[in-house]
Amino acid sequence: MISPRLILAEIARVLTGVVLIVSGLLKAIDPVGSALKIGEYLAPVLDERWAWSSLITLTLSFVLCAGEFLLGAFLLMGIYRRLSARLSVAFFAGMTLISLYSLLADPVSDCGCFGDAIHLTPLETLLKNLLLLPLSYLVLRDARGLRHLYSRRERWLPAVLAVVGIVVFMERNYRHLPLVDFRPYRVGTNLGEAIAEEDSTLQARLLASTRYLYERGGVTKAFTPENLPDSSWHFVRVQDGEDATYRAKYDFAPMDSLGNVCSEALLTDPGVTLLLLAPHWSRASEGSIDEINELYTQSLSMGYRFYGVTASSAEEIAAWRYLTGASYPMLHMDATPIRTMIRAYPGLLVLRGGQIIDKRSYVDLPTVEEVTHYLHRLREPGYIAPAPSLARSYLLLAWGILLILGFLRFWARKLHLTLYLKKRIHYPYKRKRSMRKNIVAGNWKMNKTLQEGTAFISELKTALSGKALHCEVIIGAPFIHLASIASLAEGSPIGIAAENCADKAEGAYTGEVSAAMVASAGARYVILGHSERRAYYGEDNAILTEKVRLALANGLTPIFCIGEVKEEREAGKHFQVVEEQLAGTLFSLSPEEFGKVILAYEPVWAIGTGLTATSAQAQEIHAHIRHLLVKKYGEQIANDCSILYGGSCNASNAAELFAQPDVDGGLIGGASLSVEKFLPIIEAFH
Ligand code: PGA
Repeated sequence: MISPRLILAEIARVLTGVVLIVSGLLKAIDPVGSALKIGEYLAPVLDERWAWSSLITLTLSFVLCAGEFLLGAFLLMGIYRRLSARLSVAFFAGMTLISLYSLLADPVSDCGCFGDAIHLTPLETLLKNLLLLPLSYLVLRDARGLRHLYSRRERWLPAVLAVVGIVVFMERNYRHLPLVDFRPYRVGTNLGEAIAEEDSTLQARLLASTRYLYERGGVTKAFTPENLPDSSWHFVRVQDGEDATYRAKYDFAPMDSLGNVCSEALLTDPGVTLLLLAPHWSRASEGSIDEINELYTQSLSMGYRFYGVTASSAEEIAAWRYLTGASYPMLHMDATPIRTMIRAYPGLLVLRGGQIIDKRSYVDLPTVEEVTHYLHRLREPGYIAPAPSLARSYLLLAWGILLILGFLRFWARKLHLTLYLKKRIHYPYKRKRSMRKNIVAGNWKMNKTLQEGTAFISELKTALSGKALHCEVIIGAPFIHLASIASLAEGSPIGIAAENCADKAEGAYTGEVSAAMVASAGARYVILGHSERRAYYGEDNAILTEKVRLALANGLTPIFCIGEVKEEREAGKHFQVVEEQLAGTLFSLSPEEFGKVILAYEPVWAIGTGLTATSAQAQEIHAHIRHLLVKKYGEQIANDCSILYGGSCNASNAAELFAQPDVDGGLIGGASLSVEKFLPIIEAFH
């Protein structure tokens, strides 16, 4: 049984979880790009010329991308549910404020939520956050009720894998180049053609927006070229076209020392050109100087072009040359397009006939010994460097596999595919190790006259005679039936239970029936703690504890009922409720006393309603109850205690419920009123 509210929370959890994972991953693919975007947001307070500003933005980028991914991952796996739900509400609230700020103050043209992969305008981003914020609240409201793929004991493994996985993934993408290049300068792009195409598109758009101004009788009007006016109008001037919405993708305009733009020359050259890119040499890593210098020397000898491309000042260039012995010529370009072209600092970009055929971080340059071989390959017609290997995300892949396995296990349980295995594995264990009995108990409640009651017992006796039974059979009946049906049932396998007894031993309690009287009528059991008595007759923990003590003192076996109401189940509090019910009543008994009690888990929402807990739900909470008993009384007593399930149990669902390793039978209400319905439930144990 799952309420519409919980279904809503589940849907919201999946949506927010997936968005968080996707946006976290897309940003984590390019940590430098994310740091640059954060720098744009922080531009009013953080001057990018400060030495430590890039360290701050990079740290924030790691925290943001990893945090976002982990929130999504934890929500999807259903681990640390409340904490993740709280943090995601806080996250989306913060993001809503930031996107509002970016809509009003316009610090960035594109929010950067999904890295360079998907571009959203500030307005689209605000709308996205305004949708996700309430969704994340829905998740938080019912966080405890969300399904989970891993138990408390198991959850550390997927959690650790996700944390380490995302951090390693980002570190790899930072040190090398992004695993996937979402920018226009990806390997394989023919830069010459792409720029030419962009130019002609831009020309066409400008032309389309060019207007011709004509005047007639003091009125000036703008006309499109296709729609020029007749000769009664006088031409005034041409109004140049402009297109504010168009954003150029390419800004490739390197200049030589004389100030000549040499992009044309570089892009039309059929040979190989190596560009070593670094916005500022003063900040470039000196990690691969030998490899770079070797690459330059060998390139020259093979007739390749080799340039440093930078936005550095003459002093910076001189310092770099002095420091590293660099003698390659330098071209000048703005820092922003250099950063767009390559994330490494410095990084190598190789052009052949205008096409980008390789891009590498300085850490991945060929070694001094490999340089010649590498340069020869660049000349091979059609050679394009292979894409980065997925192996850098092996930990994340392992996490993904674990997630899929978790889902498969979850659904296998839901669809009862594991039932067969459970029966095979748990049953022999249960039989061997425990003394606990299988029991089918009826509870007539306030039904049947004395005559109807005795007739039922006679009929059931006949039906059971000569049958091999695999469970104990008990009938719970009103007080006035007890003496008659107990004597009728004598010599048969049927045990008799009262449905209640007084919380006083004896005395002036008009209308009450004591445990001693019940026992004297021939009953051996008494049902206590039934939800109907708790709800309609105000029986609380104190009264019930007293009743249990008196029942035990008079040699009666209590069949003690516990279970949650609908709202508690929907709020995911059922485990807590049964724990409190036990702690407030039976857990005051000594181990010896407790050993005589039969427990019945009866979810109140299932009693007499036709709704049954699924066998998986029943098993889950029965196992939890047994776990509580282990903690309180130890393994042996917990294993020996019979825990019955009650709540719309009938002939059609009994077998499946009773097949669960921790369900030891049933407490049956409605279906115990006729032998015809009751007998098949007894026979469910075969
Ligand atoms: P039910 O009642 O089988 O009619 O749902 C169970 C009980 O109250 O014990």
